[in-house]
Amino acid sequence: MKRSLGNKKISTAVFISGRGSNLKSLINFSKKKKSPIHIKLIVSNTKKAIGLKYANINKIPKKIINFKKKFQAETRILNILNNKKINFICLAGFMIVFSKKFINKFPGKIINIHPSLLPKYKGLNTHIRALKNNEKFSGCTVHYVNSNIDSGKIILQKKVKIIKNETVSSLSKKILKEEHKLYPKAINKIL
Ligand code: GRF
Repeated sequence: MKRSLGNKKISTAVFISGRGSNLKSLINFSKKKKSPIHIKLIVSNTKKAIGLKYANINKIPKKIINFKKKFQAETRILNILNNKKINFICLAGFMIVFSKKFINKFPGKIINIHPSLLPKYKGLNTHIRALKNNEKFSGCTVHYVNSNIDSGKIILQKKVKIIKNETVSSLSKKILKEEHKLYPKAINKIL
């Protein structure tokens, strides 16, 4: 999906469920002249997502979609994405797994960031599991999304060293800092 020089930026939606620190880093990245993405929409499955404040601060349209009924929620999102001509989706701490049907509408155009060196530690609570297993390294991964959790093709990874007396809090801070750099880098790699 490489964007040839001179082309317009790719209309992008970012999906979140919480704090939104990766969203913030993606917004900053999107504002750079050379960035391939233009963030036209922020979607959350909950109005409680703290990260929604970045939609207000940056005047980016936002939608809150209740996922209690997944099929209806996905149909609604598809309509919104079509209306806004969105053709690239970045998941950033979005806690819902899309159906195969939804993912197939955007082949190779949905990516996600995960705080582990995939394929290790898919799913939640990655840091505690890495520490309990006495891993020497952990890190973060940007990958394509398929309908199996954290299993799509890997785009980029960044490794970080786990030091003596590392805690969940120190490790998550260290990895999050790398996530904020890795996500833009991965987007530049594929767009
Ligand atoms: C990040 O650690 C990301 O890798 C994971 O969820 C967390 C979201 O953090 N998928 P934030 O909302 O971007 O601050």
